[in-house]
Amino acid sequence: MSDQTNILRLVADRLRVARRVVVVTGAGVSAESGLRTFRGATAADMPKDMQALWREFDPMKLATPEAFDANPEMVTRWYDWRRLGCLAAEPNPGHTALAAMERHIASRGGDFALFTQNVDRLHHRAGSQRVFELHGSIIEWRCVQTGETFEPEPTPFERFPPPSPFHPGALLRPNVVWFGEALPESVLLAAFDLAPKADLFFTIGTSSVVYPAAGFVEMAAREGAFTVEVNKDDTAATTRVDAVLRGPSGEILPRLIELAFEV
Ligand code: OAD
Repeated sequence: MSDQTNILRLVADRLRVARRVVVVTGAGVSAESGLRTFRGATAADMPKDMQALWREFDPMKLATPEAFDANPEMVTRWYDWRRLGCLAAEPNPGHTALAAMERHIASRGGDFALFTQNVDRLHHRAGSQRVFELHGSIIEWRCVQTGETFEPEPTPFERFPPPSPFHPGALLRPNVVWFGEALPESVLLAAFDLAPKADLFFTIGTSSVVYPAAGFVEMAAREGAFTVEVNKDDTAATTRVDAVLRGPSGEILPRLIELAFEV
């Protein structure tokens, strides 16, 4: 039996009896749905439109409040392009396995929480119930004047920057968290409450370089959680976890659920 199979069995044994499971996910979980990650190893011969986003685009010109103030048309066009990509994507077996994990844990009275850095809503669409969006959602847009949010039609905006339907003369922006902005307080409070209580903690498909999400694994480990990384490659968290499952989450997570719950 390979090392990886042994580790998978060990994690499955932990999952079978876990009472409190906390998961943090990142862009890698949606990679098998065809959505581009932000960073990470990219094959040199990969077409440009499949490369990690922050290799092709400058986050400081697109993902900050200053960028929006300087060029709202460019920023909203870019986010609308990504919004339509997210709406066209389908959840993959990794998302589905996490929804199944939640159902199994909940069915025996356990506690499950999924914190995602992803803005694509694919966890919800796969059936996950207790999802905390750390970086907001690109599917919702917000009036910069009133703060009201709504889900625009699944077609491109007609004008850029798009006008707000809530306040004359105001603009819309995606309801995401940009660099330099605060994360939603209720989501952060939930993470600070639940991560230290976890007995099993997963960090999945994230490079673990963007804080505060990258720090949750330590919060859990400090209080005794068994920590597991699922990732295609090494990350900033790899040396800090108890077990590493190396490979695509869309393959590893369904195998883990099968082993843990014999489905
Ligand atoms: P990154 O793009 O930084 O990291 C993606 C991770 O997924 C890398 O570690 C890859 O090795 C891994 N990966 C790729 N394909 C995978 C697969 N099929 N299965 C498992 N792992 C895979 O994405 P995040 O860590 O989510 O924030 O990035 C965090 C934040 O930085 C994002 O929310 C975004 C970005 O800037 C904002 O825009 C505010």
